[in-house]
Amino acid sequence: MTALEVQKFEEIQEPNVRQRLEVNDQEIKNYLNEKMEYILNHRAVEHPLLNYYRKNKFTKEQEKKFYLECWYYFQYEPFYITSMAVNTRDYNILREVVLNVVDEVGGKVTHETLFREQINELGVSNEEIDNYKCLPTTTAINEGAMKLYGEPPIEKALGALYADETMSAVLATQLNDGLQNQGYDKNVRKHWLMHLNVEIGHSNNAFNAIAPYVIHPQGRELFEAGINKYLELLEAYWDGVDSIVRGEKVATN
Ligand SMILES: [Fe+2]
Ligand SMILES: [Fe+2]
Repeated sequence: MTALEVQKFEEIQEPNVRQRLEVNDQEIKNYLNEKMEYILNHRAVEHPLLNYYRKNKFTKEQEKKFYLECWYYFQYEPFYITSMAVNTRDYNILREVVLNVVDEVGGKVTHETLFREQINELGVSNEEIDNYKCLPTTTAINEGAMKLYGEPPIEKALGALYADETMSAVLATQLNDGLQNQGYDKNVRKHWLMHLNVEIGHSNNAFNAIAPYVIHPQGRELFEAGINKYLELLEAYWDGVDSIVRGEKVATN
């Protein structure tokens, strides 16, 4: 069983969390749910390192490397997502992109600041964050996302977004569990606690934006290419992180 079920995305009723728009065609709904199942069950999402972290404590050194790599993975993500808007003239897509990015930067403090504060709480200074040299696989997913979101076709970008945001909803549960298991209180975990629902809303942004484009096989092909490219980068990213956190041997498990 995966950490999250498709049903959670379909039924989210929280205020301020984006819900799925009604799709009248059951076949399209089934298709998008099938793709979500595929993402939720992919090794890149249910990665051995993440499942290990949910139940096993990291040393301070493991924890530091793990979160510093995460920092460089997510860095500038809202800018990349915003760049999707340039490759469409569809107001429906523009709305979903804007709603997504407003979550990231529209509050009293940005999510970037909240994440930096969490890393600081773990005992990692801003200087350590800024001077850290991340793995090539981390640079690859960061730059890969920039390319996937910034370049046409929009269907491929939305495939990447669907994979990215659906994964993020799972990641929020995994990292919250890991931090809780490590003994950190709600204040340290607040960034992930808040993201449990926010990321479901972001996955729903991608669902709403892509639905009209997967009526035809051509749209599905591009959408799936975006999903697969993102998951490929993600799997390599976690294998890389695993190799420096738990050591080379376990990375292939
Ligand atoms: Fe966020
Ligand atoms: Fe998100």
